[in-house]
Parts: sequence; structure tokens; C-alpha cells
Amino acid sequence: MDGLYGSKRFPKITTHVLQEMKLKGEKIAMLTGYDYSMARLLDEAGIDVILVGDSASNVMAGHVTTLPITLDQMIYHASSVMRAVKRALVVVDLPFGTYQGNSKEALHSAIRIMKESGANAVKLEGGSEVVESIDRILSAGIPVLGHLGLTPQSINKFGTYVVRAKEEEEAAKLLRDAKLLEEAGCFGIVLEKIPADLAAKVTKMVKIPTIGIGAGHEVDGQVLVLHDMLGINQEFSPRFLRRYHNLHDEIIKAFLAYIRDVKAVDFPNDKEQY
Ligand code: KIV
Repeated sequence: MDGLYGSKRFPKITTHVLQEMKLKGEKIAMLTGYDYSMARLLDEAGIDVILVGDSASNVMAGHVTTLPITLDQMIYHASSVMRAVKRALVVVDLPFGTYQGNSKEALHSAIRIMKESGANAVKLEGGSEVVESIDRILSAGIPVLGHLGLTPQSINKFGTYVVRAKEEEEAAKLLRDAKLLEEAGCFGIVLEKIPADLAAKVTKMVKIPTIGIGAGHEVDGQVLVLHDMLGINQEFSPRFLRRYHNLHDEIIKAFLAYIRDVKAVDFPNDKEQY
């Protein structure tokens, strides 16, 4: 089935298509995905990019931060997503501790993701601190998506998940880092939880697409965490989050009905047995 948007015009999303979308002013729709079944639905709907985010550490594994998830676990999620996807570009997060040490380790981690999952690109957090790793990964022919602003793998340095780059100094560094990522050859940059006017400035300054989360609408695309936008998580309610469903209540209703039917010996009925 064709998705509702874009599939006919762009039958397969590549990093070059994303660049073309920026040039044509067509917004990029990106969501996270971690498993086969959800990735099938995302691809069927015509999502442009699926991010196998290290937010899997939170929403799939129940950790408080993104730090504990391992490279093997990310590869497991990415492989599951890849088995489902025909059209979307699939980007996989390099998890904490697999690229910050040195650029050789970063390349080794990126190669494992590409080889073992078949994904299309990797994402890593940071600017000047990780540019050597980005250079090395790109030189192996692996597309890289940058990530600036609130970078959750640095939560222990930040101490809080508040809006980043509100002060002049941090905003100036973010602008320098965005330029650096563009010059290094990243195919795009995620801008997380920064003032909307700063995100707009970055978007105008760089030729590569910017994808915002909590960064206003003057960016080239948007990304949300799947479980948050579907309303499976009820606890997480930042201002930038729009819930498109209340799956928490819908799922609980279905579970309650099942439990009631089993207890009442109403399930299975005569037609539901052999
Ligand atoms: O891991 C993730 O889900 C992300 C998005 C929030 C951009 O990095």
C-alpha cells in the first residue's frame, strides 16, 4: 500500500532525497522505531525516516537514561526494523560509549551497525568533540546524521533535560558546531530542545536538512519518539510533545476486556475452538 504522502514522488528515501526535500521545501517526517511490527506500520504510512534511537533504552527497556543500551541491543532493534522497511531511510543511533573514546572505535561501531543490521546511516551526538569520529565514519562511506542541542547521552554533564543554548555562549557554540558538521559531510542535523529562533538560524545557515524535536517549525523536518506521540507513555509531557493518540487508555481497555472474558469463561467461545 502506498503511504499517504510522498511515496509516489519519492519511492525510496535516501540521504540525497532528504537534501532534495530541503531544496523543494518539503518537510521531512521522522519518527523513532525499534521493532518489526511498528516499523511495518510506519513504512506503510509513508514515514520518510525511521530513527532507531537509543531512546529504546527508555521506552523499550525501561532505563531512566539512554546510557545503558549496548551496541548489540541497538543492532538487534535495527535488524528488526530493517526486516520491515521498504521505503523509509533507517538511521541508527551509536549508543553511549561506542564512539566517544576514539575515532577507530567509532568507525568499528558504525561498521558493526551497518554490516549486522543493514541500516542506511548512523547518528551520533555532539559537535567539535566528535568531529574526528565523524570524519572517519564518513570516509568509510557511512552516512552520518549529527545531533546538537540537548544530547541525552550527556545528561550527567547537563544535570537536567531543560532547553539548551538559551545563553549566547552556548548558542554560538551550537552555530559553530552545526557549520562543522555540515563541512565534515553529515547529511543532516537533529536539533533537540533549543529555542525556535536559534533552530531557524541554523536551518538557514546550513545547506543540509535540520530535523527538530522541541525546536519549533522553522526547521526542515520533525522527529518524535514513537511511544510519546502515540500516548503509550503518560508520564512524559514536555511542551513540544503532541500526542496523536491515547494508546495507553486504548490498550488498557483491551487488556481489561480480555481479563474479564477469560475470568468469565466467555473466551474462547464455541466458534473460537477446534
Ligand atoms: O534516541 C532518540 O529517540 C533520539 C531522538 C529524540 C532524536 O535521539
